[in-house]
Amino acid sequence: MKLLVTGGAGFIGSAVVRLAVARGHHVINLDALTYAACLENVASVSGSDRYAFEHVDIRDRASLDRVFSQHRPDAVMHLAAESHVDRSIDGPGDFIETNITGTFNMLEAARRYWSDQGKPATFRFHHISTDEVFGSLPNDPGVKFTETTPYDPRSPYSASKASSDHLVRAWHETYGLPVVLSNCSNNYGPFHFPEKLIPVIILNALAGAKLPIYGDGSNIRDWLYVEDHADALLLVLEKGVSGRSYNIGSENECSNLDLVKTLCAILDQKKPKPSGSYADQITFVTDRPGHDARYAIDPTRIRTELGWRPSVSVQQGLEKTVQWYLDHEDWWRALQTRTGVGQRLGVKA
Ligand SMILES: NC(=O)c1ccc[n+]([C@@H]2O[C@H](COP(=O)([O-])OP(=O)(O)OC[C@H]3O[C@@H](n4cnc5c(N)ncnc54)[C@H](O)[C@@H]3O)[C@@H](O)[C@H]2O)c1
Repeated sequence: MKLLVTGGAGFIGSAVVRLAVARGHHVINLDALTYAACLENVASVSGSDRYAFEHVDIRDRASLDRVFSQHRPDAVMHLAAESHVDRSIDGPGDFIETNITGTFNMLEAARRYWSDQGKPATFRFHHISTDEVFGSLPNDPGVKFTETTPYDPRSPYSASKASSDHLVRAWHETYGLPVVLSNCSNNYGPFHFPEKLIPVIILNALAGAKLPIYGDGSNIRDWLYVEDHADALLLVLEKGVSGRSYNIGSENECSNLDLVKTLCAILDQKKPKPSGSYADQITFVTDRPGHDARYAIDPTRIRTELGWRPSVSVQQGLEKTVQWYLDHEDWWRALQTRTGVGQRLGVKA
């Protein structure tokens, strides 16, 4: 297949690009190269004759039309977005423009192209979204997000993603555009930008700095290894039913405090300090305003309909991730100089 992947220089998008090229697909990586992008993430495939890069902003509709007519993709995987909740609290405007207006532009450009092609039923617009659109769960293991959980976004980021999900469904119902949606839990793994929790903890630990935990650390997240997610996304694209959404998670619920303690234990083994444990660096900081208490995905649909299973446990995934950061200092050092990285954001509210 020829895939137009938006946001392919970011964390998850680059995992999709690497996997898709490895599986023999042709990929056009469309990315505006914002602060969160890094073309190093796709260096392993950028020399392939099945890979092309388009430096385009999804807010620029004319360029999107040009990309569609020039490359004639069989499917779209739409991941380009502003993705950091803390940044959305300080500056929601970019989130509205990219995540909502940008998705609208993508849908309109895709619809024009698909119509010009004679509306092939095999075309797919895969919209990649988040479980944060469902809001916050109580601390009850029996309650999880399913595909029918009502939307209840609570941050500017999740509200902008929820809006984009609604647009995608509307373009399917109104215009018949063949779409699939997926809502996943928190990802982690190689190439994770060093402003997100897991890389912050690993890199601060190595630097001998404080390991900041928002609030009391009781917030629960459901961790998904990024390469397992990329595999699930290609499966949803190829086998998912048009008009359906699929929740993607690997049933790895963990409080932020337990997660950080696990990372410290892995680091203690892999790169012991001269004395003491990395856990001695844990410090509790002011909570994020409106910090959702718990996310947890019920992946029954993607397991039973599409047969998807994650390949690693959270312990295995975290060990691979820590090792990756130990082995790739040049990658993360270069990104630590970017605006806002290493600063506490999202406390203005
Ligand atoms: N990271 C997670 O844990 C997670 C969880 C659930 C859902 N998601 C969703 O998955 C997608 C990818 O997330 P990520 O963590 O890889 O994000 P990321 O921030 O690492 O990467 C986003 C990419 O999109 C590009 N981009 C941003 N604005 C753009 C614009 N206007 N035009 C073109 N490109 C633009 C950036 O340059 C960057 O390469 C997002 O849609 C996000 O909402 C992420």
